[in-house]
Amino acid sequence: MENAKLILGGEEYEFPVVTGSEGEEAIDIRALRTRTGAITLDTGYGNSGSCKSAVTFIDGEKGILRYRGYPIAELAEKARFPEVCYLLGYDHLPDAQELREWRRQMTLESFIHESMHTFFTNFPPTAHPMAVLSAMVASLSGFYPEEEGSEQAVNRSIIRLLAKAKTIAAFSYKQSRGEPMVYPRTNYSYTANFLRMMFATPAEDYEVSPVLERALDLLLIVHADHEQNCSTSTVRMVGSSQANLYASISAGICALWGPLHGGANQAVIEMLDSIQRDGGDFKKYIEMAKDKNSGFRLMGFGHRVYKNFDPRARILKKACDDVLDELGIEDPLLDLAKNLEEIALQDDFFIERKLYPNVDFYSGIIYRAMGIPTNMFTVMFALGRLPGWIAQWKEMREDPEMRIHRPRQIYVGANERRFEPVTKREHVEGPPRKFATWSYDT
Ligand code: CMC
Repeated sequence: MENAKLILGGEEYEFPVVTGSEGEEAIDIRALRTRTGAITLDTGYGNSGSCKSAVTFIDGEKGILRYRGYPIAELAEKARFPEVCYLLGYDHLPDAQELREWRRQMTLESFIHESMHTFFTNFPPTAHPMAVLSAMVASLSGFYPEEEGSEQAVNRSIIRLLAKAKTIAAFSYKQSRGEPMVYPRTNYSYTANFLRMMFATPAEDYEVSPVLERALDLLLIVHADHEQNCSTSTVRMVGSSQANLYASISAGICALWGPLHGGANQAVIEMLDSIQRDGGDFKKYIEMAKDKNSGFRLMGFGHRVYKNFDPRARILKKACDDVLDELGIEDPLLDLAKNLEEIALQDDFFIERKLYPNVDFYSGIIYRAMGIPTNMFTVMFALGRLPGWIAQWKEMREDPEMRIHRPRQIYVGANERRFEPVTKREHVEGPPRKFATWSYDT
């Protein structure tokens, strides 16, 4: 591919074009500022590649998502979550022996230090489980400090984190209900262990439903990675300062929490619930979503990258029908979601803006059918995304081109001003100025 040409201030500059393994192209502008004095401005980073990555490929126009070259639909159908964790981190599917050992370690390392148990009890029962998860994951660095350097030490941290995160998630739920913690066992799969830790009590035997076990595998797999999204970029951003794995992932968990990102799965169910309580008039809400002044968005709709369909949403829509069928559950929210989708997909507002259901639109209905409470949905997303964050963090650490992430800006503030002592500052009449909204009575 020929170099890209830029004319700036009458001068012509050439910049190399980088081509990815799927043919996507980027202009390498790393020398732009040194050569021209200018920077690029790309608020929201919609046009900026922050790294080269071999983990996940997305073609948003064609609705393609592949982890390490494997199509998401095939992994969702045939793989189990621990296999996908291994694949993302180590670039190949594990053989039988590797998988056996990997799964064993993922259970043996599930226990958390006994002193960490007191942390759970110090959170109020109303604490959002995402607050608990992020705090506990950051705390792991105090209990299991990363040994410097060796690849083996990094691998140990990775397996520890993958294993312990599910325990932390389940314990945070148990704590919020005031129930005793249930420990994992090696004779259960990753997902069966998680379901036991969530729902078993010492009072009776708990049989893990194979339908739920499989459904959870699928949900975690479709969330496992999504290249340089907000939370993954946060993990890379924090990790680029060489912060440890637990600190970097804890930051990613916080980034995921927001309703525009992973928090959307909770927001979707809350939205469907409130439409239902308001009489189920979904057309009214479609109109509200189109009205910019309403402040209402159709949660679970739209995506920065997918402009045709989100392949994960297709998988989950089908899974939703299957799981509810197998469990014999009728959920009016599922009908409501389908009605909203049908109307929105025929509406010019959504068609023109290429707004389609995303991964979060149907996932919450499956979690609900599994008995997982709404405020735990984003935690479930975090458990699924964990191997992706880890793989991206690991890739960044191993990348010889990696530099600390440090974007620039275009400054639009005041030019140089003189400092006036407070006695000489003029009082400006009228409503409080910016940042001056607190009381002056002190
Ligand atoms: N409902 C109504 N209008 C929307 C929606 C929506 N859900 N999403 C985007 N729009 C409109 C938006 O108002 C704008 O219209 P206009 O061009 O007239 O100003 C246009 O579509 C483009 O929107 P944008 O906010 O510039 O798009 P973005 O790429 O910055 O944002 C998004 C992507 C996912 C944050 C956004 O679509 C959204 O807020 N969706 C709802 C929240 C959601 O479901 N998030 C989960 C994303 S998928 C899981 C994940 O990755 O975490």
